[in-house]
Amino acid sequence: MPLSITLTINGEPRRIDLDDPRVTLLDLLRERLDLTGTKKGCDRGQCGACTILVDGRRINSCLALAISHDGAEILTIEGLARGDALHPVQQAFIAHDALQCGYCTPGQIMSAVGLIGEGQAGDDPERVREGMSGNLCRCGAYAGITEAVIEAQR
Ligand code: FES
Repeated sequence: MPLSITLTINGEPRRIDLDDPRVTLLDLLRERLDLTGTKKGCDRGQCGACTILVDGRRINSCLALAISHDGAEILTIEGLARGDALHPVQQAFIAHDALQCGYCTPGQIMSAVGLIGEGQAGDDPERVREGMSGNLCRCGAYAGITEAVIEAQR
């Protein structure tokens, strides 16, 4: 008999049957729910590409079992914009050219939203870099990312 959990994903309550209790939130989002904005990089908690917010806190969704989050509120990159209006963090990433290939960008943006929500961003670039240190960018767009986070939290 499948196990069922309920998640609120980007504001929408969803009841989900889990065929496999070992499925991660990342695989559930991408493979079952077609929410492919959340990226799979390392699949072992090292790159941050899979960052989402769970009950407002940043997590690496590749390390999180879906079954452990019954009742949670999930926010993914797909849930940030309001219609045509981008979230201020998304706008700041564009304004500061805070990406190159873009693969890490959804995770960077979700991490920035979480960091700002925690009140941990501030105006100090060093502090922002520390707060964003779980998110790697192979293209090295860190300068723009730091500027974008500082602008977005103002
Ligand atoms: Fe989850 Fe890299 S894919 S941290």
